[in-house]
Amino acid sequence: MAEFDRIREIKAFEAAGASVKVLADAGIAQIPPIFHLPRDFLESKQPPSSDPRYSVPVIDLQGIKNDPIARKNVVEDVREASEKWGFFQVINHGIPQSVLDGIIAGTRRFHEQDHEEKMKYFTRDVSKNVAFRSNFDIQKSGLASWKDSFHCQMAPNPPRPEELPHAIRDCLMEFSEEVKKCGELMFELLSESLGLPSDYLKDMDCANAMAYLCHYYPSCPQPDVTLGLKRHSDNSFITMLLQDHIGGLQILHDDYWIFVPPISGALVVNIGDFMQLLTNDKYKSVEHRVLANKVGPRISVGCFFNTSLNPNPKVYGPIKELLSENNPPKYRELTLQEYNTKRAEEPLGSAGKVLKYFEI
Ligand code: OGA
Ligand code: NI
Repeated sequence: MAEFDRIREIKAFEAAGASVKVLADAGIAQIPPIFHLPRDFLESKQPPSSDPRYSVPVIDLQGIKNDPIARKNVVEDVREASEKWGFFQVINHGIPQSVLDGIIAGTRRFHEQDHEEKMKYFTRDVSKNVAFRSNFDIQKSGLASWKDSFHCQMAPNPPRPEELPHAIRDCLMEFSEEVKKCGELMFELLSESLGLPSDYLKDMDCANAMAYLCHYYPSCPQPDVTLGLKRHSDNSFITMLLQDHIGGLQILHDDYWIFVPPISGALVVNIGDFMQLLTNDKYKSVEHRVLANKVGPRISVGCFFNTSLNPNPKVYGPIKELLSENNPPKYRELTLQEYNTKRAEEPLGSAGKVLKYFEI
């Protein structure tokens, strides 16, 4: 598309309300050209069907608080999944189903309320703790995807309750409290899986900051030409994601795009860029994306254990205890702020691309 047309298209999207849901509700049969992604974005090589080697691990956390044998087995599964996949799902994680159902319903309620009400939270300012956004990177990348999102930084400095939209307030605070506990447990398991004391990663402040993205992927009239979310890795220590029953999340594994199938009550956990840095590449921050779908809306809620909005002056680098003569540090020490700045310059951020700048 000619540059002039692209700029005009972006302006038209923003003038129409800067929301994909507004376009979807208008009942268009053809989606605007800025949503048409280059062919290689859409490539979707699938593994041989029914080959069990290509299913994302599911880890059952039942009993791990009291049963040392169950815990040892789970820690081993976490290690293997983090090394081989960078992604796994957890079940029996202790978060009540009612809380999970509550945040899915609340996300839907937020996005399906009057457009004007949502626009009170619309901002292009990325430093805002509470925001409604769609395609906030569109000016830079020029490429749009089929999703709207509500964003909220919930820790370490939570917004005052009245700063949160009424539609999602109570359920987000409740979900966040539960995810914090569950996230701390995940950092204990990850520490143990690296042969470190249980509290090691928590003591490095990995569990301190939480940003939430409450996504709404409307039904898409032309799902074959666009995506719900373009490929990326997460700039977090870890991400914990709840998805509804629709599906569409895929991860890049062995050059295949492998689905992370919805499992009722499960949470998806993935290794983020900062964990790849801390583990000196032992654990991988794997690229993933979300397909667009005729069936919708699809709803998902991600919790990112990161520090982007509350800069942490600490420096992070490969954990000393994991290094040896045979495993020298691949990266220098850096603040996560430095990482995030570099990452923002890469429109299609991936850990591999960004960490290169910090290689020793
Ligand atoms: C993300 C993400 C996946 C999903 O928000 O970073 O990868 O299923 N989301 O919405
Ligand atoms: Ni992601």
